[in-house]
This record gives sequence, C-alpha cells and structure tokens, in this order.
Amino acid sequence: MKAKMIIDKDYQIGRIDPRIYGSFIEHLGRAVYGGIYDPGHPLADENGFRKDVLDLVKKLGVPIVRYPGGNFVSGFNWEDSVGPVEQRPKRLDLAWFTTETNAFGLHEFAEWAKKADSSVMYAINLGTRGPENARDIVEYANHKGGSKFSDMRIANGAQDPFDIRLWCLGNEMDGPWQMGHKTAQEYARTANEAAKMMKWVDPTIELVACGSSSSEMPTFGDWEYTVLSEAYENIDYVSLHRYYANPTKDTKGFLARTMDMDDFIKTVVAICDAVKGKKHGKKQINLSFDEWNVWYHSNEQDKEIWKQEKWGPALPLLEDVYNFEDALLVGSMLMTLLRHADRVKIGCLAQLVNVIAPIMTSHEEPGKPGGTAWAQTIYYPFLHASKYGRGTSLNTLIETPKYDCSDYTDVPIIDSAAVLGDDGSVTVFAVNRDLAEDCVLELDLRSIGSLHLTEHLLLHHDDVNAVNTEANPFEVAPVSLPITPAEAAGGAASGTIGDGKPGCYTVKLPALSWNVLRFTR
Ligand code: AHR
Repeated sequence: MKAKMIIDKDYQIGRIDPRIYGSFIEHLGRAVYGGIYDPGHPLADENGFRKDVLDLVKKLGVPIVRYPGGNFVSGFNWEDSVGPVEQRPKRLDLAWFTTETNAFGLHEFAEWAKKADSSVMYAINLGTRGPENARDIVEYANHKGGSKFSDMRIANGAQDPFDIRLWCLGNEMDGPWQMGHKTAQEYARTANEAAKMMKWVDPTIELVACGSSSSEMPTFGDWEYTVLSEAYENIDYVSLHRYYANPTKDTKGFLARTMDMDDFIKTVVAICDAVKGKKHGKKQINLSFDEWNVWYHSNEQDKEIWKQEKWGPALPLLEDVYNFEDALLVGSMLMTLLRHADRVKIGCLAQLVNVIAPIMTSHEEPGKPGGTAWAQTIYYPFLHASKYGRGTSLNTLIETPKYDCSDYTDVPIIDSAAVLGDDGSVTVFAVNRDLAEDCVLELDLRSIGSLHLTEHLLLHHDDVNAVNTEANPFEVAPVSLPITPAEAAGGAASGTIGDGKPGCYTVKLPALSWNVLRFTR
C-alpha cells in the first residue's frame, strides 16, 4: 500500500500550546496513595514522594496536572486537606466509595508538582459547594497575605502564594453520577457567579467551565450553549471529556474512534463561536480537553472490589492494563489534539499514575514493601508527542487509502500530524491503522529547506493484546530504526513524489504501528 504526504511550512494550523500535554491526578484509587505518594517506600524522598514515579513523570514533560478530581472534587472540602496532618479529618468519598484520609493535600501536591517540573490546574467543588467557597480557595492559594485565608496558608507553612494560574469550575456537572449534579441553567448561574468572584480575588487567573462529560450525553450541545451564553464574559475555556473502549475486540472500529473525537472538537468550537457571534463578542473561547484516554479494561474488576471492600482507603480502582492497540489509539488521540492546535489549548491525559494511567506501580503485599514503577504501552506515544510535538502544528496534505468499519466510513488508513519545531526541524507522527499491510509513505518536504531524516521511532507489536507488566515492563517499547545515508538524504528514488528531488523521502510504516519521523538540519 502507498500514501503520499506534502508538508508546507506555510500551511500552519496554529501554535501548539504546551499545555495540551497535561495530565491528571485525582484522589482516586492508588493515584495519590501508593502512586505519587508512598512515604513507607524505599524510594520515597523526604516528602514521601516516589522518586522512581517522579522520574517517569518528568520524562513525560507534563506542564500541568489537574487536581484533585474528577468526580472526587464534587464532594471535597479543600479545608480538610490543609493544616497539620494529624488534625485533618478522614472523610467518606461518595464518588469512589473510599475513605479519604487527607494525609496528602494542597500543600503536598503543590510541592510534588514543583518537583515534577509541572504546575497545578486546580478544580474547585461546584457540586456540594458554591461561589463563596470558590472565592475562599483562590484567596488561600493566590493572595499574598493579610486576609483570613491567605494568612491561614502562611500559618500552614507556605509564605509564598501557590500562584495557581488555571482553575476548573467543577467537574462533569452535567452527569447524574456527580454529587450536586445540576441542570445546564443551574450550573451556568453558579459557575458564572463563582468565576466572577474568583477573578475579583485574582484577575490574572484563567478559568475552565464544564462542558459535557462526553459527546454522548443527551444534553450535549444545549449544555455548552447554555453555559457559554451565561458565563461567556468570565470564563476562558470550555472543557471536553472523552474515553474510548473496545469491549468487542474490533480493532478496526476502535482505531477509528478519533473520527468521533474530531467531530466532538469541531462541534464545541462551532458552539463557542456561535455564542461569541450572538454576543457580538471579541473574546474567543478555547477548548480544554481535560480528560481523555482509553478506559474499560478495569470495569468488571472494580465491581468486584466494591463488592468486597467499600470504604477502604486507596482501593486499587480503575487499574486498566493497557495493550498495544490502546497505544495506537492514544497516539491518534494526541494527533487529533495537534490537528486542532488553533483551538485546543489544554489537554489532560486522564490520568497519570495507577488510575487509567501511563505509569503503574506494583501493588505491594503486606510485609513486602518495595516494588517498582513501569511505563504502560500508552506511555510511549505520549512521551514522543510531548517531546517532539512542540512548536507549530502543520497541515499534512495526505493522500491515503481509506476503510469503512462499523461506525464510520472513509477512515484514513494513515493517520498523521506534523509539527514544525522552533529550531526548523519537522516531526511527522503517523499511525498505520491497517491490520495487515505495510505502507510506503512518500513525503514531500521541499518547502522546508534542507533537512535530513535523522530518526524513525517505531512502536509495534505482533499482538494487539500485548501489555507491559512489572515482570515484563518492556514487552511493548519503541525502537529506533536504522536509517541509511541515502534514506536520510532523501531524493533517492525517482518515480516517487517530487520525482526524486531533494527534500522528498520514502519511509515504510509497518502494519499497525505508531511512527515518529524526525527531520532535522
Ligand atoms: O478519570 C476518571 C473519572 O472520569 C473522573 O473522576 C471523572 O471526571 C470522569 O467521569
């Protein structure tokens, strides 16, 4: 099979906001306790943070981490999580039927984020609480001192404000599963009043209003329109959440799911612009895709856990073990974000450690402390995109064979995105969705000037169900393919795109593979 791609440095989609490579830590399962924070572990630092986990997080280059939820936040009292640890109350978390000890809270997370070279994206509780509380937490976190809550922060050991730049106005408030679930109108009013007061305390912060918790919600569309119509003046972003599953083992259909993600983004952009038009507004509302991933492997296991042990602390919930095909879809989801770089400014892979996560730690048995941390399959496309997908997103003009599957027609077999780095390099990301056939990709990069193909990273496994485990942590891992001098220079083959001229390259993309092609000066 063959495909052709033309990349022109002037066909720009937009600047890539590095925050699209964000992630998420919720007080859920073993994300915090036994994940990022494990004071009894031999690899814990002086704060109790796991150093091996921190290393894996730092490699991912995650600029923001959303915290502390998720569904959890809709019943959470932030005051419970600050002050002397021994005085913090244990609370029942009704989102995940767990007991929250509050041993880890805002101060600890701010410190952890610093050590992870990241920053905090903080979600407030608009489920069981409201605007007054939203105002108080901004004062606690961001005001320099001389007021009740800022002085409380100082008394709790943080002289300098945490200076949290980005705030979520609640979480998935359209979902009946949410504590304090609201109608669109109820949420819109509450969010707008909270937003106003939060910005009066600190006018420099940015705010994300809840969009729909998935494009499949019956209120999708109406919800966004109502919320934006009310809160347009006071918010900066609207959120999108989406998880995909493959319970029927239909790989072709599963890998086509980004067609849905693409439609979802386009629809939300259209609604943002419609509201702007209606209001004769100048401000553009952008998108925060602050929960996205594959999620389904652990569903049955979680039902069993709750049957046996409701209210335990740090129950091992949502521990999806990701396989090779999940990594391909995650790669395609990242490329979908890149192709919408003009409007999607924030993205959070949900989540980061243990809970539907790229990073896992072993579940220690009592009396056997220790255990390792490892990268799941989905770690690798994220790592590559975060490392090389910075700069300007370019259109790939691609001519590729297409296929039909259960839910979609005309799915491009080669899914691709391209990035122009600030150093003049070009990175092409590509997934070959074909189950059996390799693809010969001809690339024309003549507009960019003299480049060399210097790296071809490949993630492939013969078994779509292959996974990484503690015993076998590198079963699915990328390799760097050898490149001959002729392949590196390009222009070797006549009769191909550009007729063998310099700046044209030919690369093989194996069946079912994630590829990173690096062209550098
Ligand atoms: O990420 C897991 C859960 O998925 C989050 O708590 C919630 O916001 C979403 O439904």
